[in-house]
Amino acid sequence: MDSLESLFSLRGHVGLVTGASSGLGVECAHALALAGADVALVARRAERLETHARELSERYGVRTVAIAADVAVEADIDKAFTAARERLGDIDILINNAGVSPTGRAERFRRELWDNALAVNLTAPMMLSQRVASGLIEAKKTGRIINMVSIYAAVASSVYKLSAYCATKAGLANLTRQLAVEWAPYGILVNAIAPGWIPTEGTEGGIAKPGNQERMELFTPMARLGRPDEIRGAVIFLASAASSYVTGSVLSVDGGYQAW
Ligand SMILES: NC(=O)c1ccc[n+]([C@@H]2O[C@H](COP(=O)([O-])OP(=O)(O)OC[C@H]3O[C@@H](n4cnc5c(N)ncnc54)[C@H](OP(=O)(O)O)[C@@H]3O)[C@@H](O)[C@H]2O)c1
Repeated sequence: MDSLESLFSLRGHVGLVTGASSGLGVECAHALALAGADVALVARRAERLETHARELSERYGVRTVAIAADVAVEADIDKAFTAARERLGDIDILINNAGVSPTGRAERFRRELWDNALAVNLTAPMMLSQRVASGLIEAKKTGRIINMVSIYAAVASSVYKLSAYCATKAGLANLTRQLAVEWAPYGILVNAIAPGWIPTEGTEGGIAKPGNQERMELFTPMARLGRPDEIRGAVIFLASAASSYVTGSVLSVDGGYQAW
């Protein structure tokens, strides 16, 4: 690995990104395409996916496919996995990014919100990882799985009432470690990215509430929120040869939030 190209290029690889219709998922898809991978974009909002997929193909000259699917529904997970494989070939980079962050006081947190958070944030990554890993093991190919967790995988939230989110992200962080251990013998490396506060469609409403942004900046050593595109470097690193001896790790992209 003596050139930048051999360290970071993803040419010849096929990625699948969930939650690629907005926010960090779009950035993950950009990162893969920028490094040369073909990309399947998965989420529920078909039109958004089509727009992003077209843009990536035009800008980076890679193949893309937009697949509308609800990752909380197992039949949709199968549909997305099969459609991506049929259109682009064996998936060897999976980014489990789709996520929901329902808020509500713990003592009256609604069961349906809890169940949906569990389905989207934890069960779906497991189901998709199973499918991708079994395909790779059968084909005797190596691969990468990247799970989008959060600072709230490691600590509780001082800003929001986020019991389901904290529980499912913590579960996903430790699932990352377990899958890394079980699949290391097959060359399937499993890591997580833990972003701090980054304005996206999913977070900007909360950030805009009086006092929240100031508190977030105060708690963050770099004293600012992140930009969505600041996730790209971590994605390319964890998907590429540059991280060939990295598995079971949680990479913080949080302006230093977890450092103190
Ligand atoms: N932004 C931050 O500050 C931050 C910090 C830490 C971690 N994260 C994590 O980063 C990930 C992306 O969040 P974001 O901030 O980019 O929020 P976002 O803009 O709201 O994106 C969430 C994505 O998840 C998809 N999604 C939600 N439910 C789904 C379902 N049932 N089936 C398929 N897709 C579904 C949404 O697509 P559709 O609605 O089209 O289905 C959307 O593309 C999440 O896992 C989040 O927990 C974000």
